[in-house]
Amino acid sequence: MTLKQSYSGIFQIGATISDRMMKNEALKELIKSEFDVITNENNLKPINVLDFEKSVSDLTKYNESPAVKFEHLRPELDFIRDSKLDMRGHTLCWHNQTPDWLFYENYDIKGKLADRELMLKRLENYIASVIGWMNENYPGQVTSWDVVNESITDEGGVRDRLWYKTVGADYILKAFTFAKKYAPEGVKLFYNDYNCWLPDKKRGIINLVKQLKEAGVVDGLGLQGHINTSMNIELYKQTVRDYFSALGLEIRITELDIDMPGNCDFEYQGKYFRDYMKALIDLKNEGVNIVGVTLWGVTDDLSWKSGKNPLPFSADLSKKPAYFGMIEAAK
Ligand code: G3I
Repeated sequence: MTLKQSYSGIFQIGATISDRMMKNEALKELIKSEFDVITNENNLKPINVLDFEKSVSDLTKYNESPAVKFEHLRPELDFIRDSKLDMRGHTLCWHNQTPDWLFYENYDIKGKLADRELMLKRLENYIASVIGWMNENYPGQVTSWDVVNESITDEGGVRDRLWYKTVGADYILKAFTFAKKYAPEGVKLFYNDYNCWLPDKKRGIINLVKQLKEAGVVDGLGLQGHINTSMNIELYKQTVRDYFSALGLEIRITELDIDMPGNCDFEYQGKYFRDYMKALIDLKNEGVNIVGVTLWGVTDDLSWKSGKNPLPFSADLSKKPAYFGMIEAAK
C-alpha cells in the first residue's frame, strides 16, 4: 500500500515538487503513486512569477497590472495535470519572496513607495492574472490556494513589511476578497502560517481568520508543520483542536517535515512520524476537519533542510522508517 492508498478515506496526502525533481523520472513515478495533491515548492511564488523587464518596458500598460510569466512552471504543471493529481497554489500574497520593486512607483526602488490605491490595484490585478492564467491553461487543476502566507508575527501582530507599509493591515482581507472574486467556484481559499502553537501567534491567527470568515472569503487554515522530534505531540494536537473549535474551518497540515535535534536516529524519527500522524487521525476521528497533510518535499537530499533529513524518503528513493511510521499510523 502506498501513502495515498493507506490514507484514502482519512485525508489527502501531498508533497511539494521543484525544478530538480522534474528531471528524475523514477522520482516522478514515486510521486504519482504515493501522493494525492501537489504544491509547487517555489515556482509559483510572486518572485518567480512577476516579470520585471516586461513590467518596466511599458508602464502605461503594466503600472497598475504587473506583468507575469509562467513558462518556467510548465514542466511542473504538465506533470501534475498528466498525473491527474490535485494542486495547491502556493502562494498569492506573501511579504517574503516578493520583489521589492513591486512596491515602488514605476517599479523603481530608487524612487518612492507606491500609495495604497496603486498597490491595491497591483494586488488585485496580480491575483486576477495568476488565477486567470492557471484557470485558462490548466482548468480545474488548482483545488486550493494559499492566498496569504505568514502575515502574523510570533507575537500575534500583522507583520510590518511592504504590503503592510503600503496598503495597511487590511491588505490580507483585500487579498482574500480578490481571490474570492477571481477563483472558480469550489476552489478553497486558505490562510497559511508557521509556528502555530505559540500562544500569542495562535491568538493573532484566530482573530485574523475570524474576520476573514465573517467576510465570507476564507475556507481553510493551513498549519505548516516545520517541526522537529522535540515538539510535544500533545501540545500540537491541542493546538489543532483549538484552531478548529475557534474557527470551524477545514484544516490542512501544509508543510510537514520533521527533523531531529542532535544526532540522526531514523528509527526514532519513524516512531515520531507514526505518533504525529496518529494524533492527526485521532483528531479527525473526534470531528476536527483535517483535509490533508502535505510533506514539504519528498526526499531528504532535495529538502530545504537537506542536512537534517526531515522527510520519509532517502535520496535513492528508498523508504525510511518515517515512511513506515506514516503507514502504520493509518492502519
Ligand atoms: O533557484 C536559485 C538558484 O538559481 C540559485 O543559484 C540559488 C542560490 O542561492 O538560489 C536558488 O533559489 C533558491 C530556491 O529556494 C530554490 O532552491 C532561493 O535562493 C531560496 O531562497 C529558496 O528557498 C525557498 C524558501 O521557501 C524561500 O522561498 C525554499 O526552497 C522553500 O522550501 C521555502 O519554502 C517555504 C514556504 O514557501 C513557506 N513556508 C516556509 C517554507 C520553508 O522556508
